[in-house]
Amino acid sequence: MKMINQIFEWVDSRLPISKPWKEHMAEYYAPKNFNIWYFFGSLALLVLVIQLATGLFLTMSYKPDASLAFGSVEHIMRDVEWGWLIRYMHSVGASAFFVVVYLHMFRGLLYGSSRQPRELLWIIGMMIYLALVAEAFMGYLLPWGQMSYWGAEVTTSLFGALPYIGTGLAEWIRGDYGISDATLNRFFAFHVFLVPFLLAALVVVHIIALHQTGSNNPDGIEIKENKDAYGIPLDGIPFHPYYSVKDIWGFGVFLFIFAWIVFYAPELGGWFLEGDNFEPANPLATPEDIRPLWYLTPYYSILRSVPDKVMGVVAMAVAMLLWIFVPWLDRSPVKSIRYRGTLYKSAITLFAISFICLGYLGTKPATPVTAMIARIFSVIYFAFFLLMPIYTKLDKTKPVPKRVS
Ligand code: HEM
Repeated sequence: MKMINQIFEWVDSRLPISKPWKEHMAEYYAPKNFNIWYFFGSLALLVLVIQLATGLFLTMSYKPDASLAFGSVEHIMRDVEWGWLIRYMHSVGASAFFVVVYLHMFRGLLYGSSRQPRELLWIIGMMIYLALVAEAFMGYLLPWGQMSYWGAEVTTSLFGALPYIGTGLAEWIRGDYGISDATLNRFFAFHVFLVPFLLAALVVVHIIALHQTGSNNPDGIEIKENKDAYGIPLDGIPFHPYYSVKDIWGFGVFLFIFAWIVFYAPELGGWFLEGDNFEPANPLATPEDIRPLWYLTPYYSILRSVPDKVMGVVAMAVAMLLWIFVPWLDRSPVKSIRYRGTLYKSAITLFAISFICLGYLGTKPATPVTAMIARIFSVIYFAFFLLMPIYTKLDKTKPVPKRVS
């Protein structure tokens, strides 16, 4: 034991280990009132690790070649030792990533976590989200199934709808006139190297920014404003061991559900893996209905609900980017939903309902009736953000206590 301590001290005096450990774990004071909504950040971190690890092993047997890609995935599923498990963990992991990240973002809206002084933390979060969308979109091309091919074809042709630069831009992204081997190669390079690297770096910056301001909490009270004689927040508790243990418990519950899906329902009825994608890409046969997986269908619905193609693309892009401005759109004097009035509570409820319904409608072929419903929900979606400065100001709020309850 003495020898281990000596080795540790030798390393620690040459490489900072105990200092960052104290700063970010043992002596990082987090509010004592975290609730279930505060599990999703650490869960996103866990899913990121799962995706990086399973992705690494998939890359060992996958072939980024238009004539071999589909077969190589089948080879992974049937011949490679535990290949099916690695592949299903990765495909279920993609959906799990979006489940936890959407809940993580929604928590931000519930407790005003994006508000001053956490605006930059929120913006970095949004950069992570956009990188995640790009990562999922490019990853979906790799199995080279029907929906991979046609999904990429439709999405890249959206860029082609832009005036003047559109056609050139779509060709530049594809590296060809249509989706081809060149597209597969570059999407592979971005999916396994550039974007994961970016994601990991952004997550590190996200946590650094979080630890600079300190966490918000379900009461929306700044715990740094009430400190004891030693400068320790009175309503704070050390992250380690209190929240590290709690987060590990969260990991357990999450992994239980995750494993159940991976082992018993990896396709989750077509929600996590799409039926059409079990057929190899065929440029000569268009599937009846082309759509992204569930995590992008809310935006796809918004795109479809605008009759003009260019305006549809613009609406979809704006819908994704509007989240960034929440810290400035929200004018309420309080942060947490606990002290807000009926206006904000109704607005956020309507927003959540429209987001889920848009997501659902986007997975179904559009009929005149569903298109009209999607239009109504799209209007609610935009109204939530654009009218936020008005209803948050008019809202009747309750007084916020000085200390965490
Ligand atoms: C890979 C994706 C992400 C990871 C690994 C991640 C990680 C984390 C972690 C570990 C925390 C602290 C624990 C917690 O509050 O749950 C946190 C907090 C936070 N994250 Fe993320 N995050 C991700 C994506 C996002 C996104 C997309 C947004 C928003 C656009 C975001 C916004 C925030 C905010 C505002 C906080 C502080 C919340 C509070 O203190 O109330 N994060 N994140």
